[in-house]
Amino acid sequence: MTLATEQHTQSTSATFKNLQCKECGAEYEAKATHVCEVCFGPLEVSYDYDALRRQVTRESIAAGPNSIWRYRPFLPVMTDNPIDVGTGMTPLVKANRLARRLGIKNLYIKNDAVNMPTLSFKDRVVSVALTRAKELGFSTVSCASTGNLANSTAAIAAHAGLDCCVFIPADLEAGKVLGTLIYSPTVMAVQGNYDQVNRLCCEVANTHGWGFVNINLRPYYSEGSKTLGFEVAEQLGWKLPDHIVAPLASGSLFTKIYKGFQEFIKVGLVEDKTVRFSGAQADGCSPIAQAFREGRDFVKPVKPNTIAKSIAIGNPADGIYAIEVAKKTGGNIESVSDPEIIEGIKLLAETEGIFTETAGGTTIAVLKKLVEAGKIDPDETTVVYITGNGLKTQEAMQGYIGEPFTIEPKLDSFERALERSHTLDRLEWQQVLV
Ligand SMILES: Cc1ncc(COP(=O)(O)O)c(C=O)c1O
Ligand SMILES: [Zn+2]
Repeated sequence: MTLATEQHTQSTSATFKNLQCKECGAEYEAKATHVCEVCFGPLEVSYDYDALRRQVTRESIAAGPNSIWRYRPFLPVMTDNPIDVGTGMTPLVKANRLARRLGIKNLYIKNDAVNMPTLSFKDRVVSVALTRAKELGFSTVSCASTGNLANSTAAIAAHAGLDCCVFIPADLEAGKVLGTLIYSPTVMAVQGNYDQVNRLCCEVANTHGWGFVNINLRPYYSEGSKTLGFEVAEQLGWKLPDHIVAPLASGSLFTKIYKGFQEFIKVGLVEDKTVRFSGAQADGCSPIAQAFREGRDFVKPVKPNTIAKSIAIGNPADGIYAIEVAKKTGGNIESVSDPEIIEGIKLLAETEGIFTETAGGTTIAVLKKLVEAGKIDPDETTVVYITGNGLKTQEAMQGYIGEPFTIEPKLDSFERALERSHTLDRLEWQQVLV
């Protein structure tokens, strides 16, 4: 540990204490480590909630920056100068047209498709992880990624002046690959699926001394997702919703939104209530949904095969905790087919003007399925988390959307095309495209 790091760890303004095993409660110093040496359980950051209760008010939060760092006392960093690239405080949109289409009344979209700087919720977790990586003295950062995480890690490392090497499966969408390469990190495209990429990265993390945001820095990184809970509570006027729907890959995001709500209750920022947590997976990679359906409290790993590549994790690290959250809150975990995912992307675009990626299509399709099955009450205040941007997964939509009318630069050419467009109504388009 460097001298600078020791000074950081002695800072008195920090409200986080140490790392604690989620399974056996063993405590560890807040270093770059993620697995309990006693029972191999995952480590999580713990906080001094009495100090938080004394320090934090709705007003102190509202007076903070317009980014995730307004919640800094709830995040595992020491510094008063975190890496702030404007991440967070994304719109919470009242989705009236989508709600009407589905037959429910109080629906909101938390739109992280426009998060900064790389248009997914991963910018939250990476802003936190790289701030902590700097505090811990790392000069090279890395990750095992299904795409969005590589984009975020590369971009924010560039901003922070950190060296960066990311690992992705070789078959990712072009937008995800270009959206990483543009920041000039080293990119390793691994011939294998995400779970194989992750296994390789665990070995590299042990040998190279790099800060892997979702491996040895995972306890810090994952805390960033709590801000998706904090922001929704604040944007609803310091109230919790009745029901949330979010996508699941490793299951981390889902469990951390839950932790965020619980922390706000614990320190008295919102009233206590049970928020129902429902999760979304693609049929082609649904180990958590399968376990939930079969009433199992363990997850059987699967080999992913779906267009929803960003959430294609066959062996999810936090799967059992996601099941626990859904069960104890009275929620559900469902999966949908690839055609339903495409329909979900189109439905959100047509009704709300939001173009999401395949993970978002999965979430909207599961929302629809839950409403149709009567598992979402039409009167519940429901928040759907849209976590990524559709411009990055354009391949998925090839052949499923219309084409422009190519016309000559003449009025009569336009009029003829307009006539054709009137006769070719939406239903017909769909028949053409099926
Ligand atoms: C767009 C998007 N949504 C959701 C997730 C799920 O995240 P988690 O692994 O925390 O469940 C991912 C993971 O990569 C993602 O890229
Ligand atoms: Zn343990």
